[in-house]
Amino acid sequence: MTSKGERDTWADVDWDAESATFDDEPDHGLRDPAVREAWSARLRGWLPRAPSDVLDLGCGTGSLSLLASEQRHRVTGVDLSPRMVDRARAKLAGRDAVFLVGDAAAPPVGEQRFDVVLVRHVLWALPDPERALRNWRGLLRPGGRLVLIEGLWGTVSPVGISADRLTALLTPLMRDVRMERLSDEALLWGREVEDERFAVVAVV
Ligand SMILES: C[S@@+](CC[C@H](N)C(=O)[O-])C[C@H]1O[C@@H](n2cnc3c(N)ncnc32)[C@H](O)[C@@H]1O
Repeated sequence: MTSKGERDTWADVDWDAESATFDDEPDHGLRDPAVREAWSARLRGWLPRAPSDVLDLGCGTGSLSLLASEQRHRVTGVDLSPRMVDRARAKLAGRDAVFLVGDAAAPPVGEQRFDVVLVRHVLWALPDPERALRNWRGLLRPGGRLVLIEGLWGTVSPVGISADRLTALLTPLMRDVRMERLSDEALLWGREVEDERFAVVAVV
C-alpha cells in the first residue's frame, strides 16, 4: 500500500478506476518473482497447512487469493469494486475460487463459515474496525483464524492502524494473537520501507 497511504480516508478513492493500474505496485501485482515468493512464503506460514476455506476480504485484483489458491486453499473473495472483482475473477479463472461484490465489513456469504479470514490493507480504512473484527470472528469455524496484514503508512503524518491498537482490539475477541513485524522485509514491498508494517494471526 503506497499512494493511498497518503490519504486520510478512502472517501475520495474510485477503486473501479484504480483497478486498471493497481497491480503496477510491486506488492500489489506481485509480478517480480522475488516479491511474489516473499509473499507466498509468508502466506504459507500464516495459513493452515491443510487445504482450507479462505475468505479474502477487500480482495482487490486477487493477488493474495491467487497465492492462497496455489497453496491448494479454496478461496472466496469479496470486494466493493466490481472492476476489482472482474480482475480477480480473471486472475483466478479455472481455479476453485469465487468472487463476490460486497462490503468487507458485512460480507455477503450467508451461512457459510471459513477456516481463515484474510484481509490485507483494508481494515484500517473501514468506518468501524472494531465492529468489522467482531463480524469476521463470527464467520470463522471453531479453530479458525484471522490473518490481518496492516500498517501505519508514512512517517510524517502516518495513516492506518498500529500493531498495538490492532492487537488491543483483537485480544478480547480471540484466544491467541500473534503479531509479526514486516517493515524490515524489503522483498515484500519491492523496496526498503521505514514505516510500520505488520501481520497479525489471531486464532478464535
Ligand atoms: C489497498 S486495496 C487492497 C487490495 C488487496 N487486499 C491487496 O492487498 O492486494 C483496498 C481494496 O479494498 C476494497 N474496498 C474498499 N472498501 C471496501 C469495503 N468496504 N468492502 C470491500 N472492499 C472494499 C477496494 O475496492 C480495494 O480493492
